[in-house]
Amino acid sequence: MLPKKRLTRMSRTKGDSSSGFIQIKFKRWSLPEKFEIIEKYKAAMSDIVIGREPTSSMLKYAVQDPPVSDADLEKLGALAGELIYTARTQQDFAREKFEEILKKKNLYNPILMHYIERELWGYGPLTAVMADPKIENIECNKADAPLTITHTDYGRLDTNMVFTTDELDRLVMRLAHLAGKSVSVFKPYLDGVTIPGGHRYTCTYRTEISASSTFAIRKFPEKPWTITKLLVNDTITPEMAAWIWLMVETRQAILVAGVMGSGKTSLINALSSFTPPHMKIGTAEDVPEFRLPHTYWLRYVIRDPQTIEGTGAVSIFDLLKLLLRSNVDYIMVNEIRGEDAKVWMQAVATGHGGITSIHAENPETVFARLEQLGIPVAHVSALRGIAFIGFIFQDIGKGYFKRLRRVKEFFEVNIREDGKEVNRLFWYDTGPNGGPRSLSLDELLASNSAKLMMEYLGLSPDRLKEEYLNRIDFLKWLKDLALARPETAEMESVKQFISNFYLDKKFYKAVPLPSARPQEVVKKEPPSIKPKITLPAELVQEVAEEVKAEAKKLADVKVVGMGDLILRPPRVLKKGKIKESRAVPPPPPPPPPLSGLVEKLKGEG
Ligand SMILES: Nc1ncnc2c1ncn2[C@@H]1O[C@H](COP(=O)(O)OP(=O)(O)O)[C@@H](O)[C@H]1O
Ligand SMILES: [Mg+2]
Repeated sequence: MLPKKRLTRMSRTKGDSSSGFIQIKFKRWSLPEKFEIIEKYKAAMSDIVIGREPTSSMLKYAVQDPPVSDADLEKLGALAGELIYTARTQQDFAREKFEEILKKKNLYNPILMHYIERELWGYGPLTAVMADPKIENIECNKADAPLTITHTDYGRLDTNMVFTTDELDRLVMRLAHLAGKSVSVFKPYLDGVTIPGGHRYTCTYRTEISASSTFAIRKFPEKPWTITKLLVNDTITPEMAAWIWLMVETRQAILVAGVMGSGKTSLINALSSFTPPHMKIGTAEDVPEFRLPHTYWLRYVIRDPQTIEGTGAVSIFDLLKLLLRSNVDYIMVNEIRGEDAKVWMQAVATGHGGITSIHAENPETVFARLEQLGIPVAHVSALRGIAFIGFIFQDIGKGYFKRLRRVKEFFEVNIREDGKEVNRLFWYDTGPNGGPRSLSLDELLASNSAKLMMEYLGLSPDRLKEEYLNRIDFLKWLKDLALARPETAEMESVKQFISNFYLDKKFYKAVPLPSARPQEVVKKEPPSIKPKITLPAELVQEVAEEVKAEAKKLADVKVVGMGDLILRPPRVLKKGKIKESRAVPPPPPPPPPLSGLVEKLKGEG
């Protein structure tokens, strides 16, 4: 729900209500009459149904609002109108106040309260679609035509939501108010202003510059994308992530390329967690989008002109120059578009690590795009890697496809005076036998990026191989852990785990993966039709003993220093038995309390 001070009335019509007050008209969505359901889930209090009407071959996104009778809604509209009209103070707009009065009038039920809430403090008829985490964009290009949305899994779809000219004018105005702005015939548009929740809102008003009012909302994910989430939804493989991690750690500059909305910003955000925890990251953005778990984070955001003449603006270029003087180790820029690209390149050429992104349709056009931005290839010699992110499509039958994001290709680049060398290290094959691919381990270890890693970390090829393989294992562990305990994929947990990793690279081997929570298993898996598998009693007994032994060991876990470093000797699993592979390290200083997360894992292990 939105902050209550941002109150405006969504929809008013001169009501015929007997009280003579304004009548609030509630917009309510319902499913098309005949609708073949492909997928159904809940958002806010509404049902979201992806399906198809018999007359169309296209999928449609339909919102089914909670059921309520027209008569009740009519009464509610009259009452709400009266309450709003007579309200004098902020307290009169309190949720409790409305609840109390509805109860007095014998009109209270949670569904009616929901309609009031979404109208006064929510996004009105857009409440469900705004609450649906699978929605990336909402667009309305015309009155009396279906709203379109971009769905994470299905791409752009028409919806069952249609606004009349009047409704659309009011909605566009109301959303503008939520951004603390207004639109009028004098200023008939807004360009990418922020509405509560960090979403970006663009609109035109009435018929000044468009056929009717129009709007677009680019939604900002409620919780940030982390490397664990990208591993869980297979956007990136543990192998590719481990390699990029080593590159980030050894300050090899990386460029993320892709089209708009492909997930570039989210990928930079996730990759940032690979920077060593004691390093300082500086970021420059035109819209505050990054959400880094990093402790030492210097965040700069551009400023618009402060006068009509256009003076007082602070650009990405200015911010980058400031960052260069701020003793930062890494410089992340959300997207480079012009001369800022040169400054970023200079920064990474002078020993800073960094990640940025660029709009490019395919990997081949990256260098052409850079040249367009005024950076010839010779000037990007500090660039070491390019990650290309895009979509692949998965056949879900009946001629429909799901859209999946993948880091489709990862190249190392080596730019010398005599030309550039681009070497594809990881890629994604599509087609029936498709999947993630990479060069062989030996080829990877012979690459230029590996050479730079070895130089920076002072490692032999064998040790680098060990580092790489251990990181793959750790990332797989993070992924499996998140599959069993989804909350461990959130930013703060990821930060803790990676800090631990930098303190003890084998710590994770001592934390056994908990099994999935029973209710989640039930939710995910339809009843099995396979014959039940039974295990020999001795095996069951052996496993039970092992679990007991593991629990006892975990009870002895010692915690040292900051964060959740767990100092325990790594184990090798041999024939199902646990063996210690090296001596126990010297006794640590008195432990601070375990953090909630590790405590919980310990308890559940
Ligand atoms: N790996 C991913 N899997 C699923 N959704 C993603 C992923 N990465 C980004 N998204 C979603 O896609 C939308 C666009 O992401 P964003 O990172 O802003 O793209 P870009 O910077 O390329 O324009 C956002 O709504 C975001 O939540
Ligand atoms: Mg972006």
